[in-house]
Amino acid sequence: MREIIIDTFGTPDVLQLRESAPPAAGPGDVLVSVAFAGLNPIDYKMRDGSSGQAKNLELPAVLGREMSGHVIGAADDVDLEALGMPVGSPVFGVRTLGDMRGAYAETVAFSAHDLCPVPGAEPDLRAYAGLALAGTTAQTALEDDARLRPGETLLVHGGTGGVGQLLIPLALQAGAARVLATGRAENAERIRELGGEPIAYDEEDWAERVLSETRGRGVDVVIDLHYFTTFLPSLDVIAEGGRIVAVPSLADLAPARERGIRASVTRMSPSRGRLQQLAQGHASGLLPLEVAAVLPLAEAGRGHEVLESGHARGKIVLETHA
Ligand SMILES: NC(=O)c1ccc[n+]([C@@H]2O[C@H](COP(=O)([O-])OP(=O)(O)OC[C@H]3O[C@@H](n4cnc5c(N)ncnc54)[C@H](OP(=O)(O)O)[C@@H]3O)[C@@H](O)[C@H]2O)c1
Repeated sequence: MREIIIDTFGTPDVLQLRESAPPAAGPGDVLVSVAFAGLNPIDYKMRDGSSGQAKNLELPAVLGREMSGHVIGAADDVDLEALGMPVGSPVFGVRTLGDMRGAYAETVAFSAHDLCPVPGAEPDLRAYAGLALAGTTAQTALEDDARLRPGETLLVHGGTGGVGQLLIPLALQAGAARVLATGRAENAERIRELGGEPIAYDEEDWAERVLSETRGRGVDVVIDLHYFTTFLPSLDVIAEGGRIVAVPSLADLAPARERGIRASVTRMSPSRGRLQQLAQGHASGLLPLEVAAVLPLAEAGRGHEVLESGHARGKIVLETHA
């Protein structure tokens, strides 16, 4: 089978396509023939070694954290029928944080706990390849970190990236009264389609706009998917008793805490229940996820370049058998 590996940290050039023996299923594993693998910013941070998790990567290593595909087998201790994913059925999943086995490959051994059946008669496996990591991140940020309450107003920075496109509808389903979302002007329509209220940070002063939209009160919650230029000015648009959640894990929360604002950094926490909620939401049309590009496996580097630009829209996925 083919897979994408790195044997050193560096620029997209270090990504190599190689032939390899398919993996064996260890205890608790399911073997999946991967249809599409999802790309995420963590992948290029692992590739260039800048992620705190890169130290846990044993080189050469296969990159990638999530995928969709079809079940082709399992270890003896896994009852596929009981899990609702018999051989041949479609599944999607995301590796938990400590599992460094990668996903940019034609076949993967995936822990059964990290997989979920894909519902529906003719599911679009491209979208399911990008649903699990961004979706469980959005769920964790909303439910565990922000603890958004019905009727509250939310400001999202980065509303049309992978996480943002799921966060906006999930927040509205959780009862948010309003979701203001920053993004470039060219992405405003997409934010509107998702139910958010776009603020074009490249055309107007977003902080002034947030204050005018909330009559000077500010928002109850900020979920910041960008961080670099947005975190500090966000502290001035948070209402009394509000909170801020930074999703990029390098975030320094001290400036918020010094001002008495409750602040946290998200550490995505997937579970079977969360994956099921995402699958049902996507299948029913409540969680539409835009797949902006489908690239052949060998062009993973091109996908990394788009993500590194900081302006990816929706998800980029790799077609592993192309
Ligand atoms: N801690 C965790 O567990 C965890 C999990 C998943 C992701 N993450 C991190 O969360 C971040 C977002 O992930 P993602 O997958 O959504 O990334 P992404 O798909 O690459 O999206 C990036 C978004 O940032 C927006 N953006 C860029 N500059 C901006 C600015 N100045 N103001 C507001 N928005 C801006 C872009 O929108 P425009 O094109 O409109 O500018 C785009 O929507 C990444 O840093 C990722 O590593 C952390």
